[in-house]
Amino acid sequence: MQVSTLCFRIAVLTGLAGMVWGMAMAGSGDHATLPAHAHLNLLGWLALFAAGVFYRLHPALDRSRLALLQTILWVLATLVMTVGVALIYSGRPDAGEPLAGIGGAVLVADMLLFVALVWRSTAAPAA
Ligand code: HEM
Repeated sequence: MQVSTLCFRIAVLTGLAGMVWGMAMAGSGDHATLPAHAHLNLLGWLALFAAGVFYRLHPALDRSRLALLQTILWVLATLVMTVGVALIYSGRPDAGEPLAGIGGAVLVADMLLFVALVWRSTAAPAA
């Protein structure tokens, strides 16, 4: 499977889950976990879908193991961070902070990998 396909499929499912979460917050009137809802939607829906568009535009990258690794790490770290942030804002900071910290650190490292992939694949071809 192309990496972009994986990105698109997981991104739309994550977007759906994030919206259901938003509806639950709106319906209950309890907005305590809004930072976790926001992180899930922005990292797991918008950013992942955008990465999928980039990979689709770069076919060599779209079949590379590095892009697959980047995507898998992004998905796992987004989930870990979202759970961590949700725990923090649900009154369980002891359980949530390590998860949010680990998830955030992996996301930054993984973003560095994505930066390198984007830089490499958008470099001007040698004349
Ligand atoms: C059915 C769809 C959605 C519903 C019902 C919903 C609902 C909500 C609710 C109730 C809040 C809390 C607002 C507050 O307490 O100030 C919120 C916050 C937020 N949502 Fe959603 N949401 C939805 C989709 C999305 C999507 C798709 C994104 C991003 C791609 C998103 C990003 C955010 C952000 C960034 C915040 C924080 C806003 C702030 O801090 O002022 N939401 N959402």
